[in-house]
Amino acid sequence: MLTLASTFLYALLTNRVLLVDHATDFVDLFCEPFPGSSWVLPSNFPVGNLDSYYASSEKSYGYLLKYKLISEDPEARSDILPGFVFVNLESSYIWDVYDQYFFCDESQITLGKINWLLVKSDVYFLPGLFMLSTFDEELSLMFPSKETVFHHLGRYLFKPSNSVWKLALQYYHSYVAKDNQVVGIQIRDFPWSLMSKENRFNQIMKCGLKENILQPIIRDGSRKTRHLTEDRTGSKAILVISLYKDYYDRMKSFYASSTRLNRPVNVYQPTHEEAQRLKNLSHNEKALAEIYLLSFSDVMITSAWSNFGYVSYSIAGIKPWILLSSKVSKEVDPPCRQVRTLDPCFHVPPTINCKTKRRSKTNWVGPHIRQCEDVNEGVKLVD
Ligand SMILES: *[C@@H]1O[C@H](CO)[C@@H](O)[C@H](O)[C@H]1NC(C)=O
Repeated sequence: MLTLASTFLYALLTNRVLLVDHATDFVDLFCEPFPGSSWVLPSNFPVGNLDSYYASSEKSYGYLLKYKLISEDPEARSDILPGFVFVNLESSYIWDVYDQYFFCDESQITLGKINWLLVKSDVYFLPGLFMLSTFDEELSLMFPSKETVFHHLGRYLFKPSNSVWKLALQYYHSYVAKDNQVVGIQIRDFPWSLMSKENRFNQIMKCGLKENILQPIIRDGSRKTRHLTEDRTGSKAILVISLYKDYYDRMKSFYASSTRLNRPVNVYQPTHEEAQRLKNLSHNEKALAEIYLLSFSDVMITSAWSNFGYVSYSIAGIKPWILLSSKVSKEVDPPCRQVRTLDPCFHVPPTINCKTKRRSKTNWVGPHIRQCEDVNEGVKLVD
């Protein structure tokens, strides 16, 4: 979704039509956004075997530049340029300085003369378009506010299919909607994390209590009873969105005694798949339904590095607290931080300096580009 929105904006900026190569696990997730037309790449599209294009394949723009098979001379006529090129914007593009030329204005002049671009990406590269001066004027007309770019594009472009929407709404109305306040907690565990589930749960509680999102349970020493502290928001639904049942169990037992109180805390978890299943349609449908379900929350806690969390809070227009992650430690302090802006994080912004054509440590040009709260090397849009 992040990639598609980025590509859609790029297509708008360069007067192109957007066609989507419909992988089989994508077919039933979304409705077509444009009435009377289709964004599905026709099966008779003359360039076949799209899977054969990858970083440094011979039709890639980076490869053509590297071996001087294409000229960036602004005077070059379009009839000496190829009919199509492949643009590699998968996160691996960061390793090849020639692939990174995409984010330089000279390259945009050349690419602008090529009819078809085949774009492959797995990242939210949209903020990179704001680093180019080529699109400055158009972007400032399109988006007076920068932090809501994905918020608007995402709401415009993505219409969940009936099956996905039904999953989200059914769960919402059967459970979550009955409570006065919905706290969504999205927990993404990455394989590189050193934290155990217990560490992670403690982090969530530390964050929730510190930021007054979750209610503490006070132990009353004299009467040895547990009761919740007064909370004026009434009953609370805690919606646990995670691949694992573990966090739901811990949360549920933490608040187990609260059901006898006037202002109960109800803990819900729609699914727990226990593992990520790539290219599995029904798994993806559940994930998308939960992205939308989570977006109905009043308050959100999401996870660092998680595209799932970004999409959900950005579409909702809610600034969440992000559970910070560490690649070197089991403890994170502070446990979480509220995002300053709604824009998702571009994890691998270009490191090329377009003037010298060399790498620089950081090259975050542009008045609307700032470091992400959760990923040191990432950037996002700000007003
Ligand atoms: C897809 O995932 C579901 C769980 O969501 C599982 O029951 C099913 O077996 C998987 N299908 C395939 C083809 O792997």
